[in-house]
Amino acid sequence: MHFLGARCFVPIIALLQFTLGAALPRRSPYSWFNASEKAVYFVSQLNNTEKIGLVTGSYSSPNLPCVGTIGAIKRLGFKGLCLSDGPSGYARSDGTSVFPSGITTAATWDKSLMYDRAVALGVEFRAKGAHVHLGPSTGPMGRNARGGRNWEGFGPDPYLAGVAINASVLGIQSVGVQACSKHYVGNEQETQRTSTVVSNGIVVEAISSNIDDRTLHELYVWPFANAVQAGTSAVMCAYNRVNGSYSCASSDILNILKDELAFAGYVMSDWYATHSTVDSANAGLDMEMPGNVSIVAGPSYFGTLLLEAINDAFVSEDRLDDMAKRVMTPYFLLGQDEDYPSVDPASGGLFLTYQYGHGSSMPSIYAEVNARDVRADHAKIIREVGAAGTVLLKNVNGTLPLTNETNIGLFGNDVPYPAIGSAFLDIGQQTEGFEMVTLDIGGGSGTARHTSLVTPFKAIQDHVDSLGGRVQPLFDNEKVAEGLFRTIYPTPDACLIFLKAFATEGHDRLSLDLQWNATMAVESTAAMCSNTIVITHGPGVTLMPWADNENVTAILAAHYPGEESGNSIVDILWGDVEPSGRLPYTIPKTASDYGPPIVESVEMETDPNAWQVDFVEGQLIDYRHFDANGIEPLYDFGFGLSYTTFRMEDSLNVNVVGGPLPALADESKGIAPGGLKDLWNTVAVVTVEVTNSGHRSGYAVPQLYISLPQSTTPKGTPLKVLRGFEKIRLKAGETKRVKFELMRRDLSYWGVDEKQWVIPAGCIQFMAGFSSRDLRSKAAVVLLE
Ligand SMILES: *[C@@H]1O[C@H](CO)[C@@H](O)[C@H](O)[C@H]1NC(C)=O
Ligand SMILES: *[C@@H]1O[C@H](CO)[C@@H](O)[C@H](O)[C@H]1NC(C)=O
Ligand SMILES: *[C@@H]1O[C@H](CO)[C@@H](O)[C@H](O)[C@H]1NC(C)=O
Ligand SMILES: *[C@@H]1O[C@H](CO)[C@@H](O)[C@H](O)[C@H]1NC(C)=O
Ligand SMILES: *[C@@H]1O[C@H](CO)[C@@H](O)[C@H](O)[C@H]1NC(C)=O
Ligand SMILES: *[C@@H]1O[C@H](CO)[C@@H](O)[C@H](O)[C@H]1NC(C)=O
Ligand SMILES: *[C@@H]1O[C@H](CO)[C@@H](O)[C@H](O)[C@H]1NC(C)=O
Ligand SMILES: *[C@@H]1O[C@H](CO)[C@@H](O)[C@H](O)[C@H]1NC(C)=O
Ligand SMILES: *[C@@H]1O[C@H](CO)[C@@H](O)[C@H](O)[C@H]1NC(C)=O
Repeated sequence: MHFLGARCFVPIIALLQFTLGAALPRRSPYSWFNASEKAVYFVSQLNNTEKIGLVTGSYSSPNLPCVGTIGAIKRLGFKGLCLSDGPSGYARSDGTSVFPSGITTAATWDKSLMYDRAVALGVEFRAKGAHVHLGPSTGPMGRNARGGRNWEGFGPDPYLAGVAINASVLGIQSVGVQACSKHYVGNEQETQRTSTVVSNGIVVEAISSNIDDRTLHELYVWPFANAVQAGTSAVMCAYNRVNGSYSCASSDILNILKDELAFAGYVMSDWYATHSTVDSANAGLDMEMPGNVSIVAGPSYFGTLLLEAINDAFVSEDRLDDMAKRVMTPYFLLGQDEDYPSVDPASGGLFLTYQYGHGSSMPSIYAEVNARDVRADHAKIIREVGAAGTVLLKNVNGTLPLTNETNIGLFGNDVPYPAIGSAFLDIGQQTEGFEMVTLDIGGGSGTARHTSLVTPFKAIQDHVDSLGGRVQPLFDNEKVAEGLFRTIYPTPDACLIFLKAFATEGHDRLSLDLQWNATMAVESTAAMCSNTIVITHGPGVTLMPWADNENVTAILAAHYPGEESGNSIVDILWGDVEPSGRLPYTIPKTASDYGPPIVESVEMETDPNAWQVDFVEGQLIDYRHFDANGIEPLYDFGFGLSYTTFRMEDSLNVNVVGGPLPALADESKGIAPGGLKDLWNTVAVVTVEVTNSGHRSGYAVPQLYISLPQSTTPKGTPLKVLRGFEKIRLKAGETKRVKFELMRRDLSYWGVDEKQWVIPAGCIQFMAGFSSRDLRSKAAVVLLE
């Protein structure tokens, strides 16, 4: 452990004028309280059939062309709700943007870009007439690096994910669109994520994520608390079971949301994640999705079954009223009753020609009409986030930015326009992915169709043309791997090789390797070209066994950058934009270094209860696992290079706001969405000085980690955790003092016995630096009174 020997001191008490517990920015005219009152009145005018229609997808017709629909109640002027995927763009339509994925967004470490991206996403959903954006995602977090959906979310660190989901919920809802934060909770692998029917019709239940209370609070639920505090309208419960109960029927986990976090919106099931009527309704599920739809067969447990359960008093009328009220509250909160756009008919789950293309076996029930083009100028923010989420991992002797190189080799099957067309929907490809296509987004319900896609090929060719240079392409990875460079002459000044890893909902990745003979392709390229620059497109953690190859002079992890992919990478390669991304996860040297394996098979395939995973590592995932087990990563969490360099003086200062602190939050300050208000109050302010020590402007990402004492906390406390970061632009030679505000929760652990957040006694270490393993300045402080 770093700095254990540091001298501990009682800090100077700051008498600073910070606004404590400042009101959340609310762009709607109503508070939750007002909206809930309106919802109560609305529901009081309904009969039970109508209430059931509010809590069951597609119960009343007509269906809207959306992946999920709540029917209209015309006599009261309620036009229904349109729910649409997904977290990186409006799915199943045309005239929409493909945004940078969640993992790309997290890699920016830039709060204002996170917000701006979400506003643009929200604008598109609103213009399409979708009331509910089925995102953002912060589950899975990435306990398993091979998880098929990790790229949709903000990575395995709860603090970073919490900041990102806060900005996202606020951004989406700022334009009046409901955010549905998902998937709650413990949805960490795709394999057996939901129940399956095996031989003799035996139903084998979904995997059960068995998570202890402290880990649940400090890791998996943590970002959901931020989402609730930011005012998320809905939370989607997950496919998996938690401790043996389905997420959507677990009063234990839904009570955390509704009681402890004071969530006043509604809990919606993932699609077909409801498995019971009475148990789910009584546990706290408020809306079943997709409900009673005929196009894709699947049982509905709400609808008429819920009506019967109400009539038989297995579920109370009060509970039904509560469900309906919760569904209507965000609708009023965001003013969706006022002037909401109609749903674009050229979209939605039923408008399948636009998803699967002509010749699909799925019925097209709408005439072909032009979709509303809602992209506006969003290419600009997409390009910016795509570049900002690109992490420079290696740059030998200033290889990048490129300057006078005119003969550019452009290799790899991740360069060209998708040979399969504009959407990555062919689930048949599963984890193998698609061969001749640049990946700017993953697959499954979180994908979006390309109306526009600027490939690396197009952007690089255009750029090199404009410099009067030439591009020598070789896209077939097999040829590159075999070293068949017979068409390449003369040897390029720089060889750019683009490699990729595909990830999709429904399947976990087969390995952490980049795909399509990638390792051999890099080695063959490097053997021919002593200036080999590797660019990866992938869903998060990928192995880089060639990272130390002497001829691999630069490495860029570009994640899934969205439709401006080519422009974003050109901006970085030629230095029009300073690289400023940082890893939101750890890159291991080998797969076995990373952590717990995915459960891929179980002994009794016919035992309904056989799929179990005990989260025995507790909170020790990603960098916490590397720290706890003394494993050297290839590239550590928070790491990323710039074209300039930064220095941090040993200048860290800790100020405790308002005096020594009590261990527990003050309950008398009240409770609001997010839980006890006092947990969100700033209790410490840390500052540190950062200097640009290089010769050009650039972005530093100073990070603050803390270490709670092992001796005064229960077993399982991570050696250090992220608790602050800022992205700042500094000119050459410039120095700035950066400020991190820590809230009470940031300095607490979850006390299982107390059932509260507790600030521990003893010495708390504060460590600032440029990554989780590059800590430059520290202080040790006692906070308790
Ligand atoms: C919201 O409720 C508060 C408290 O009851 C009340 O003072 C206020 O007038 C209400 N606002 C609206 C817009 O109804
Ligand atoms: C409930 O109200 C609807 C009108 O919205 C009506 O069609 C229906 O018959 C009513 N149901 C009952 C059970 O009264
Ligand atoms: C959420 O974002 C808002 C707006 O940027 C910011 O003021 C607030 O401090 C953030 N809250 C948390 C808990 O990060
Ligand atoms: C799951 O079980 C563990 C171990 O018994 C317990 O600590 C935890 O609180 C349970 N989780 C929930 C949500 O009940
Ligand atoms: C589903 O819809 C059909 C046709 O409208 C209806 O007969 C059936 O009762 C519904 N099932 C449920 C569970 O609501
Ligand atoms: C980088 O530059 C240093 C100093 O000029 C030199 O010694 C070293 O060989 C260079 N490394 C590479 C890989 O070119
Ligand atoms: C680019 O310029 C550098 C420094 O002037 C020189 O060493 C290098 O050979 C040049 N590269 C090319 C491809 O012209
Ligand atoms: C590339 O991978 C394929 C499939 O894994 C394999 O059959 C082939 O031999 C590999 N090519 C080379 C050059 O290693
Ligand atoms: C690096 O490039 C040089 C010059 O092209 C070559 O001789 C050497 O074998 C290459 N090294 C590797 C590891 O491919």
